[in-house]
Amino acid sequence: MTVPLFDTRTPLVPLRGEIDAAIRAAVDDGRFIMGPNVAAFEEEFAAYCGTEHAIGVANGTDALTIALRAMGVGPGDEVVVPSFTFYASAEAIPPTGARPVFCDVDPDTFCVTADTVRAAFTPRTKAVVVVHLFGNVAPVGEIAALGVPVLEDAAQAAGSLSEAGRPGALGTAATFSFFPSKNLGGFGDGGAITTSDEEVADRARMLRFHGSRDKVTYEHVGYNSRLDELQAAILRVQLGHLDGWADGRRAAGEHYRAAGLGELVALPRPVEGTQPAWHLYVVRSERADELAAGLSRRSIGQKAYYRTPVHRQPAMRAYAEDVDLSATDEVARTHLAIPMSPVLDADQAHEVVEAVRAARAAPAA
Ligand SMILES: Cc1ncc(COP(=O)(O)O)c(C=O)c1O
Repeated sequence: MTVPLFDTRTPLVPLRGEIDAAIRAAVDDGRFIMGPNVAAFEEEFAAYCGTEHAIGVANGTDALTIALRAMGVGPGDEVVVPSFTFYASAEAIPPTGARPVFCDVDPDTFCVTADTVRAAFTPRTKAVVVVHLFGNVAPVGEIAALGVPVLEDAAQAAGSLSEAGRPGALGTAATFSFFPSKNLGGFGDGGAITTSDEEVADRARMLRFHGSRDKVTYEHVGYNSRLDELQAAILRVQLGHLDGWADGRRAAGEHYRAAGLGELVALPRPVEGTQPAWHLYVVRSERADELAAGLSRRSIGQKAYYRTPVHRQPAMRAYAEDVDLSATDEVARTHLAIPMSPVLDADQAHEVVEAVRAARAAPAA
């Protein structure tokens, strides 16, 4: 049995008619830039997250840069960010004029903690980018209590839950990506910023639109970074199904647990008080590369997403001279994503677990 790393197609099959109708209506309407679907999606997504505002932008990377600038981050500032994340979490910082300062993660949750963030503080620290990695939900409240504004990078965490609220509503502001493979994924690029801070929302709205409110007066040097009307129409249909898909992702994690995966490799641990909608299901093994080869041989999808953590990437050298992040190096070496989707069932989970068992039983290379 082939089990793909992720399955974006199957969950959309029953929605195809509704999505086609939404696209047709948007094309018939003809307001392709900042049209009625963008306005409606912003309202519906803010309500879903539990914030006052959602601001659609072109992608999750722009969302981070714009949100940081809207929070007042600029030249001379430092922004703390984990190194074990997708490159964009840190890449978005230098365009604001600020400097990324890398911090470590908890190897069991893959997320930053108040302690790992505090260790990176200096008098220049202006904000923290807290990444809800793989759908887990980082302890934003504990980090915000350190006294520095938090920007949640929630690109991978749409649909996750925490006792404190949904990702998107936990920090000063949050950013999302609607890249097609995300938990809420469009049919192209897209992103959003959520916040309940009026000033941050106002500045973010201007920054995504050339720094202007009205295309007459330009108050900032901004961006042309808008959510596309057709993507908004598609995302509106999908948003109604996000919680059901999130339940499917949680159930898939339970299938793995029930099939005994935890006896073979280290499972991802939800941060206390959270219910992750696993975007990627990432396990750890001292023999991760051999495990990957064994799974591939049995047509099981797998991928090591961040073997080279961000602080070791060539473009980040100038920001990472004296950085020593032992947990980051360990998880970068040992992690492996195995299949995860809203429709991964018990039989598929069993197949994956048997493939892991067989790979582990093979003699060490
Ligand atoms: C954690 C994280 N941050 C930021 C991004 C950037 O989003 P985008 O690809 O929409 O620019 C992504 C996804 O690609 C991501 O996974």
